[in-house]
Amino acid sequence: MKLKVVKSLRVCIFGLATVASVSTVSAQQYPVSSDEGVDGEELFAVCGFCHGMQGQGGPALDAPPLAGMEAWYIERQLKAFKSRVRGMHPEDVPGMQMSIVSGMVRNDVTISNVARYIESLTPGAAPELARGEVAGTARPFIWRSEYAKLEHSEPADAVRGAEIYNGSCAACHGTNGEGSQILGSPRLTDLSVAYSHRQLQYFKNGVRGSNSEDVYGAQMASFAKLLADEQAIADVVAYIDSIEADK
Ligand code: HEC
Ligand code: HEC
Repeated sequence: MKLKVVKSLRVCIFGLATVASVSTVSAQQYPVSSDEGVDGEELFAVCGFCHGMQGQGGPALDAPPLAGMEAWYIERQLKAFKSRVRGMHPEDVPGMQMSIVSGMVRNDVTISNVARYIESLTPGAAPELARGEVAGTARPFIWRSEYAKLEHSEPADAVRGAEIYNGSCAACHGTNGEGSQILGSPRLTDLSVAYSHRQLQYFKNGVRGSNSEDVYGAQMASFAKLLADEQAIADVVAYIDSIEADK
C-alpha cells in the first residue's frame, strides 16, 4: 500500500510541477498577510487543469465539478485542504493532490476571489471539454484503491435511495439537496455520481471527517455511518442524481 501511494504521489507531483510551469499566476502571488489577492478568474486557469476549464469536473483526475458551488463552502474546503484538515489520509490520493495545490492559494483575499468566481460559473458543461478526452477513459496517475472506481456494479435503486435521503439526509442538505449555509451543509445536486459515492465511502470509513479539527466533516461522518453498505450508498447517490435530472 505504502509503495503504491508513494508512486502515485510521484506521478502527482510531476503533474503538479506541470501545472505550476504552465501557470503565469505563480509569479504574481501576494503575501499571506496582504489585503490584496490574485484575481479569481486568472487563478482558475490553474484549477481548470484538473477541474475543467468551465469547472465542469475532470473525472480522469478524480476532480469534482465546481461550477456554481456555494462560495462559503468552497472557502471552507480550501482552508481545510490548506490546514491539512482534509486530504491527508493515505488512502485519499485525490485529496492529497488537492491538498498540495491548495498551497498556491496563499491568502484569504485570494481564497475569496476564486470562490466567488467559481460560484459565478454555470454548472453542467460536458466533462469531455476539459481535456479533449472521453470522460473517465484516461487516468494519468496510478491510484489502486477500493476508492478509485468510477463505476459501481450495484444496480442502484433511486426509490430506496429517496427513503434513505428523506430519513437521514434531508434535515441538513434540504428536501431537494439544495444545502443549507446555516447548517454548513453544501448543495449536493451538482456533484458527479462517482465523486459523491467516493465521499460517502470516505466519511463512512473515516478517510474524511476524522481529523479532530474537522467539525463539519465529523457531523457528516456520523450520518454516513448510518448507510449500511455499498448498496445503500449507491441508492442514495442515485436518488440525489435523480433530483438533479428532475430540476
Ligand atoms: C492537480 C489537480 C487539481 C488542481 C490543480 C486543483 N484541484 Fe481542487 N480538487 C482536486 C481533486 C482530485 C479533488 C477531490 C479531492 C477528494 O476527493 O477529496 C479536489 C477537490 C476540490 C474541492 C472540494 C470540492 C468539494 O465538493 O468538496 C474544492 C473546493 C477545490 N478542489 C477547489 C480547487 C481550486 C479553487 C483550485 C485552484 C486554485 C483547485 N481546486 C485546483 C484536484 C485538483
Ligand atoms: C448533521 C447534518 C448532516 C446530515 C444529516 C447529512 N450531512 Fe452530508 N454533509 C454535512 C456537512 C456539514 C458536510 C460538509 C462537510 C465538510 O465541510 O467537509 C456534508 C457533506 C456531504 C457530502 C460531500 C459534499 C462535497 O461536495 O464533498 C456528501 C456527498 C453528503 N454530505 C451527503 C450526505 C448524505 C447522502 C446524507 C444522508 C445519509 C447526509 N449527507 C447527511 C452535513 C450533514
